[in-house]
Amino acid sequence: MSLMEWDDRLSVGVAMIDGEHKHLIALVNKLHDAVRTNQSKEVLGPVLEGLIAYTASHFGHEQGEMQRTNYPQARAHIAEHTALAKAVLDVQAKYKAGQSAVLGMEVLAFLKDWLIKHIKGSDQALGAYLKAQAAKKVA
Ligand SMILES: [Fe+2]
Ligand SMILES: [Fe+2]
Repeated sequence: MSLMEWDDRLSVGVAMIDGEHKHLIALVNKLHDAVRTNQSKEVLGPVLEGLIAYTASHFGHEQGEMQRTNYPQARAHIAEHTALAKAVLDVQAKYKAGQSAVLGMEVLAFLKDWLIKHIKGSDQALGAYLKAQAAKKVA
């Protein structure tokens, strides 16, 4: 069973961002499966790595949109991204150092909660702003 599922309540109204969120959810589910089935470090390590890399690229895309449109809430939004990236890199560092127990269901629950909260809060606010900006341009 998947840890997370996409549903329309997670939509931010911008197709590019929604598409990336769907992919992020798929990667969190992939990590969940690997943890749940007790995969080896050789399997788990790259799955975690892939999630971290995709998250960084996604945050970069959102931040690019913020910069392009002079988003007034950029500072607070970017601070949330930075805090999450740091937390996940900490987990990865501990995992690489041999503390394999660090990558367990608690971390997955944290990731799931963070994503839902962040998408429904900061990302939906950003989405609404980007849509309003785009509408202004057309008008
Ligand atoms: Fe996002
Ligand atoms: Fe975000």
